[in-house]
Amino acid sequence: MSADQVFHARSEGIPSEGVKDQYADGKAARTWNKFIGDSNQRTQNYKDFLIGLLKKNGCKTVLDTACGTGIDSMMLVNEGFKLVSVDASDKMLKHALKARWEKRKDSKYDEWIIEEANWETLSRDIESFLPGTQFDAVICLGNSFAHLLDEYGDQRVQKMCLRNFAKCLKPGGLLFIDHRNYDAMIDSGATPGHSIYYNCRYPVDIKTSVLVVGGKPQLVALDYCITDEANKETSEFRLCYYPHKLAKFTEMLDEAFDNSAKHHIYADFKPLSEVPVPGFYIHVLEKARN
Ligand SMILES: C[S@@+](CC[C@H](N)C(=O)[O-])C[C@H]1O[C@@H](n2cnc3c(N)ncnc32)[C@H](O)[C@@H]1O
Repeated sequence: MSADQVFHARSEGIPSEGVKDQYADGKAARTWNKFIGDSNQRTQNYKDFLIGLLKKNGCKTVLDTACGTGIDSMMLVNEGFKLVSVDASDKMLKHALKARWEKRKDSKYDEWIIEEANWETLSRDIESFLPGTQFDAVICLGNSFAHLLDEYGDQRVQKMCLRNFAKCLKPGGLLFIDHRNYDAMIDSGATPGHSIYYNCRYPVDIKTSVLVVGGKPQLVALDYCITDEANKETSEFRLCYYPHKLAKFTEMLDEAFDNSAKHHIYADFKPLSEVPVPGFYIHVLEKARN
């Protein structure tokens, strides 16, 4: 039995058919930018890392496969990259579309493409609005990939989606993908509220629950509570994640690229040796050129 059959991953009232959009009730989408905090501070943490590698590899076109409210995409558009930003959640996309509208007088934003797409059908979805396009880089950041749970108990859908990411890349292109340090979270049973990505200025409490099915951790539920005392507002939402262990996720990624990609792993955007217990692991794969 898969984890989301025994546990309510989504809020009630959300259909269980089609794309499993954990943001469909609008609660997390409404609060997301507050949770991220000051976007300049957030992006500064990894801007130099990401832009440095993109430029070093001559990347110009980037597909953001989990653009959410658009934070990473906007950082890259500002730096002159050509962005195609997709997400499966219309509630999240609504915020990205609003952000683009607010930038309509800035010509850098004229060519920013925002569309709905799902990782399971990614190439087909992209083909429908940009036929025959492959990208210099694909990004899937902010612990996004872990949103995809394991319906069948053998990670087949996750593997297929990783292959879809590889297909969207030109030969020599780069994939950036990350996940929280689930090895440490499962050991400690705790999730830090602040991290390289999230600098919320309000107190953030995250309750961590780990669901073990058949002796294997299959799902981590994070119940977020953000308290804005000045405005007497409390935002609460739950997101559920597949707890990717570093070793297994590394293997799945290599397989998605037919074991022919160069694969580097970073800890909170630094060399692994510098951060003994990172909050996030970031994988960078370079697709083979032949
Ligand atoms: C944690 S948010 C991160 C958004 C953004 N990258 C950030 O860091 O702020 C994860 C995003 O992944 C999207 N997502 C989850 N599953 C998806 C899927 N199967 N296909 C496309 N997007 C998906 C969600 O809708 C959500 O916007």
